[in-house]
Amino acid sequence: MRLLHLSDLHFETRPERLYVGVSSTLNSSWRELRGLGPDLVLVSGDLTSYGTWDQGQLRGVKRWLDSIGVDYLALPGNHDLGANLDRGFKFPVLERYENVDWARTNFARVFEQGPVVSKRVGEVEVIAVALRERDPDGALAELEEALSRPGAPVIVAGHYPLSLVRDHGVLATFGSEGFIGPAAGRLASLVLGSERVIAYLCGHVHAASVVRLSDTILQFSAGALGPGPSRGWLLEVAGGQLSWELVAGSGPDYFWKGEQLGGADPADYHLGPSSTWRGRVSFAHRFQEFRLHS
Ligand SMILES: [Fe+2]
Ligand SMILES: [Fe+2]
Repeated sequence: MRLLHLSDLHFETRPERLYVGVSSTLNSSWRELRGLGPDLVLVSGDLTSYGTWDQGQLRGVKRWLDSIGVDYLALPGNHDLGANLDRGFKFPVLERYENVDWARTNFARVFEQGPVVSKRVGEVEVIAVALRERDPDGALAELEEALSRPGAPVIVAGHYPLSLVRDHGVLATFGSEGFIGPAAGRLASLVLGSERVIAYLCGHVHAASVVRLSDTILQFSAGALGPGPSRGWLLEVAGGQLSWELVAGSGPDYFWKGEQLGGADPADYHLGPSSTWRGRVSFAHRFQEFRLHS
C-alpha cells in the first residue's frame, strides 16, 4: 500500500488574500505528485487559512480534494477548527474559535465526518484525529476505543506534533503548546501506549521531519504543500516493513524567515538532513505476538 502524507495546503478561494497563487501551486503540485500512484492521500490539517471564519474556504478545499481522483482522509488544523478561545481572541479571522459542538463547526458541516475517522488501506489502518484544547469533541476517548480493538497495524494522524521537530530556531518552541495543551500529552500516551501504532503523522510546523517517538514509533511531519516547504512523505507498508521517502510539490522550499532559523541553513531547517529523506523500519516482530493472540 502507498500512502501519500500531505499537510498544510492553506488553500484559499480566489482572490487569494494571504498566499497569493496558492491555488495554482496546489494544482501544479498535485500534477507532480499524482504519478506516485498513492492508494490514499492523508492530509494532516490546515487545509485552509481561514476556514473557521469563512465556511466557503472549507467548501473550496473539499471540492479540490474531491477532484484529485484519489481516495483521501482529511483532518482539521488550527486554521480549519480553532484550537482554543485564547487564540480565537488573538486571531479572530485566521483561527476563530467555534464555541459549539463538533457537529456545528464549519469543518464538520462541510466534511460531514466525526472527530475520528479511519480508512483501511492494504494491511494498515489509518486513523485521523481532530483535536481542540480540552478535547470537547471526545476524540481521544474514541481513539482509545479504536486502538483497544485487536486489528491491523495503525498509522495515527493528527495536526500537531507530539514531539518538537527542531531543537533550535522558531520550531524549538512551536508545536502543540498553546494550541491543544494537555490534550497533546494524552494523545501521545495513547499513541505510545498502543501495541498497534507504527507511526504518527502530523503537520502544523511547516517543516519536513522524522522524529523518533519511541524505539518503535516514528513521527513524520510533512511540510506545507501550499506555502512551503512544498513536501510530503510517500509511505509504503509491505511485508511488515514501513518505508518512507520525501517527495516534492511545486511550491516554495521554505516558509520560516532567516532570522527564525537559529542560525541554521534554510534547507536543513525546512527539510532536515538528507539522511532522513528515505528509510525503512521493520515492525513485523511486534505483530507476530499479536497474531498468535488474535
Ligand atoms: Fe499551517
Ligand atoms: Fe497549524
